[in-house]
Amino acid sequence: MKKEIHFAASSIQEELETASSWEIGCMPRGLIENPIDFLFAEHHRQRQAADILQQIAGGDFDEIGVRKMINFLEADFAIHVADEEIEFFPLLEQHCLPEDKIHDLIARLTEDHKKDETAVMGVIIFLQELSAGATLKPKARAAIGSFAEHVLQHLAIENAVLLPIARARLDSEALSVLSSMMKERRNLPKQ
Ligand SMILES: [Fe+2]
Ligand SMILES: [Fe+2]
Repeated sequence: MKKEIHFAASSIQEELETASSWEIGCMPRGLIENPIDFLFAEHHRQRQAADILQQIAGGDFDEIGVRKMINFLEADFAIHVADEEIEFFPLLEQHCLPEDKIHDLIARLTEDHKKDETAVMGVIIFLQELSAGATLKPKARAAIGSFAEHVLQHLAIENAVLLPIARARLDSEALSVLSSMMKERRNLPKQ
């Protein structure tokens, strides 16, 4: 099996560092050529988003930060789930070995995505209300905090279990298919 050359996790994290606690880092250019690193970097951005959501749940407010968060949840977050469910998970089902028990893991992660898809719609509505000048009720703040917590738990499993299996099992051909489908979803040239 050809081994993928990938960026060190620490260098990806450094690239995504932001100046303010309300910002989510920008994806490093060209990282999509290494799709597993790209997914890892998206996880790091989701962790930053979850931290911001927890700030909001705690009562903090930043007008631009809240507006950017709405965009992030409507676009980047939704696109990442599509990357995983439409290409990444099926490729893993094809390439993993029985001892990886990938089917059970993917079933659990897909269940998480379903819960997030429902919860995120409510969170976006609360953020839109907040952005329009409303004060969040305790129930809304609790819902935002619990969504952030769920996202963090999901990321922890994907980073600790799913991505290492993917690095071990997906060959260069599978990675190239994954990269091109992810580019297509973002209307990026396939080269
Ligand atoms: Fe993910
Ligand atoms: Fe996921």
